[in-house]
Amino acid sequence: MKKKQSIASDHRRGWSISRRGFLASAGTGAVAMAVSGRIFASPMGNKETAEMAPDVLSKITLHVNGHPHDLLVEPRWTLLHVLRETLGLTGTKEGCGRGECGACTVLINDIPRYACLTLAVEAEGAAVTTVEGLLDGETLGPVQSAFVEEDAFQCGYCTPGQIMSVEGLLRKNPDPSMDEIRMAVSGNLCRCGAYSHIFKAAASAAKNRRK
Ligand code: FES
Ligand code: FES
Repeated sequence: MKKKQSIASDHRRGWSISRRGFLASAGTGAVAMAVSGRIFASPMGNKETAEMAPDVLSKITLHVNGHPHDLLVEPRWTLLHVLRETLGLTGTKEGCGRGECGACTVLINDIPRYACLTLAVEAEGAAVTTVEGLLDGETLGPVQSAFVEEDAFQCGYCTPGQIMSVEGLLRKNPDPSMDEIRMAVSGNLCRCGAYSHIFKAAASAAKNRRK
């Protein structure tokens, strides 16, 4: 709460970037530059910098993992940026940042969506679920457990996105065929090539959920 208030008040003063956001941007090559005393990190991961008047910020309420969050956001900020950099939900990963890899997959009203292609303002009023929202306290959810049991990852970078695509499938279709499983994760790339284990994990999770 304190963090949110701090971010909001910084925005009202007309400039903002957290120390963490700056370091993250610098580390990924995204550029944050001072322009007339105002600094913005580009959520799109490009080299764009811009000055933005405080009155351009939008006040929204995002419902994430069952909790409402009152936020001030730039209209151009992606849901991925807000989840990771404002709310600290870093389970959702940024891979390509442009709708090609699926690492950023979250559920919006139970439907898998790329958070990098969704503006935060678009998600207002919807139920957003991230990989953190599948936990029951410290206990893994059925899909998460199945990925561990079936050894369905190597580096793990694509895993949260894969898990959310499978979760979205099983919420709609509790007893999918293998073709349906393959189709459901076809928008999630795994450069480690763990696909056969991912398919097995999805089938196993479906079975466990039906029990
Ligand atoms: S980061 Fe969103 S699809 Fe690659
Ligand atoms: S486990 Fe490494 S990219 Fe999928």
